[in-house]
Amino acid sequence: MRILLISSSPHEKRSATYSLAAKIAEGAKAAGAEVETVHLAGRKLQFCHACEACHRAHMTCHLKDDAHQIILKMLNSDGLIFAAPNYLNQVPAQLKTLMDRTSNLIHCQRLLGKYAAGAVTSGSGNNESVGAYLGDYARLCGAQYVGTAGSGPEPGRKELDAAFALGGRLAADIKEGSVYAPQAREIEQRRAYFAEIVKRRKSDWDGEFHYYSEKGWL
Ligand SMILES: Cc1cc2nc3c(=O)[nH]c(=O)nc-3n(C[C@H](O)[C@H](O)[C@H](O)COP(=O)(O)O)c2cc1C
Repeated sequence: MRILLISSSPHEKRSATYSLAAKIAEGAKAAGAEVETVHLAGRKLQFCHACEACHRAHMTCHLKDDAHQIILKMLNSDGLIFAAPNYLNQVPAQLKTLMDRTSNLIHCQRLLGKYAAGAVTSGSGNNESVGAYLGDYARLCGAQYVGTAGSGPEPGRKELDAAFALGGRLAADIKEGSVYAPQAREIEQRRAYFAEIVKRRKSDWDGEFHYYSEKGWL
């Protein structure tokens, strides 16, 4: 069972959010998972050019940077942990830049069958909008969202313990193939919505059209 932790704070290992996410990872490891960590700080990540190459024939982005390797790791994982400090009630631009580069993962729900969890910290303790956004993003890609571990800028014992428990839940969901019915419905409805668009645009989004055809989703 492979879990990828994507940490988006510029503070890297000194990041409060990373320390919370590392507890989620610890909980998952105690339940049998292997966890790999990617810090986005220092990685070369360009903004999406909206050229739609990732929807076409080979479904690959033409920008040459670290996004390819990170996205490959996402595709090869069973679960994801997103660590995102609250920046203006959103995820930091570092993480949003990576997310924008995953348009094809969203259209084709390429994280289907995977599970995700989030760690969020903030100066104010207001983590709700960022946690909700991480959940939205996971479901957009087809993954079910297990939950958010949140805290202020200095996670305390209680919050670290809750993060550890969330990691155990994440690993258990992966092992058991848990179904969160409302999330599964939302993912299915969105697939039906994208199937219509992919059909309509089959001549220019040919890569995605083939993907949907092969999956039997049309
Ligand atoms: C650019 C920027 C924007 C921020 N915006 C908010 C905010 O809107 N609300 C809030 O409560 N904290 C905000 N903060 C504070 C961080 O969320 C907080 O310090 C967080 O714990 C930092 O985590 P880190 O150590 O993992 O980087 C902001 C910090 C920065 C640098």
